Amino acid sequence: MTQGERRTPARRTVLGAAGAAAVLGASTALPTGTAQAAEARGDGHGRGHGYRSLPVPTVIAHRGASGYRPEHTLGSYRHALDLGAHVIEQDLVPTRDGHLVCRHENDITGTTDVADHPEFASRKTTKSVDGTTLTGWFTEDFTLAELKTLRAKERIPGTRQENTLYDGRWTIPTFEEVLRWAEEEGRRRGRDVWLHVETKHPTYFRSLGLGLEERLAKLLRRYGRHRANSPVFLQSFEPSSIQRLAKLVDSPGVVLLSAASSRPWDFVQAGDPRTVADLVTPAGLSWIASYAQGIGPTLDLVIPKDATGRLGTPTTLVRDAHAEGLVLHPYTHRNENSFLPADFRRGTDPTAYGDSFGALKRYLETGIDGIFSDNPDTALLAAADFTAATRG
Ligand code: G3P
Ligand code: CA
Repeated sequence: MTQGERRTPARRTVLGAAGAAAVLGASTALPTGTAQAAEARGDGHGRGHGYRSLPVPTVIAHRGASGYRPEHTLGSYRHALDLGAHVIEQDLVPTRDGHLVCRHENDITGTTDVADHPEFASRKTTKSVDGTTLTGWFTEDFTLAELKTLRAKERIPGTRQENTLYDGRWTIPTFEEVLRWAEEEGRRRGRDVWLHVETKHPTYFRSLGLGLEERLAKLLRRYGRHRANSPVFLQSFEPSSIQRLAKLVDSPGVVLLSAASSRPWDFVQAGDPRTVADLVTPAGLSWIASYAQGIGPTLDLVIPKDATGRLGTPTTLVRDAHAEGLVLHPYTHRNENSFLPADFRRGTDPTAYGDSFGALKRYLETGIDGIFSDNPDTALLAAADFTAATRG
């Protein structure tokens, strides 16, 4: 959870010091991290079709270039493309009248100026979202026309003061606006603009009559991104959302995996006792591979941290997921000390940049296929270093 990120549901359980290692076991060899292994898998730049044609490691701009611009704005997405990111991420939540908009969560208190709008003061409310009690303003209580009167702002101004320069510059984009923008940018730049689209709180919204998947599938079809080789990934922390999407469209699906001890909210609601620890076993990964093409694990599931917050020994997750034909897009890389493993922090200022390249090198050496990053330019340089090193 980023500083300033309001509490979101149980999947945010902090992984114990050796939690992921205990679940997954430590890996001694790193065969999947070599260029030869990538070649053997048929991935890498220009190899294969659809998502297999993307450069590996793939750099996914997390909420756009959110290290430099307020997240989930057209400014953030455009800057990510300008920096060279291979894929741009959107998180989706619905409005009261059923439009899909790009926000990390339905609670828009921290990322918009809604609190400064007296006409919406009475909309402030307390509700339970995926078992967590939240007080604020929520997208499902606003029409799209109402939401469009708000302006986006930086989520963590205490850490990213420079980004506050852009507060108020952009509105909340709809997903349809992003699809149109991606088409235009694709034409202008002469290449596909890849998107990585997450359904947020799908079970919760379905219970309100605002199911996300059908709406998303309709838009994907309208803009020709519903095929297996379309330039899009669909992701969710709730496996049933990816299963539902797989019945509606052929676009590649990615199951997100939070801390090993956490339980997807749809499992909680359905009485399914499995936790993420069960999903990262070979049997769990095989189950995921029956309907999805990838996983998006928290970085701690790839390399656990020890009790002091330093990186430990990689788990077997990369090897085990690749054995099932799944790609891995872990989250989230950020340059600031406060988000880096303890052994890669520099100095005592939590908002200062640490040895981000050092941390990225360790993660990329595990053989992951891509990484979500708030700082895609940094991740791209690290990916280039990694590729040069492995090609010798
Ligand atoms: O979707 C990948 C990553 O963004 C998951 O974390 O909470 O930032 O959506 P979150
Ligand atoms: Ca996301």
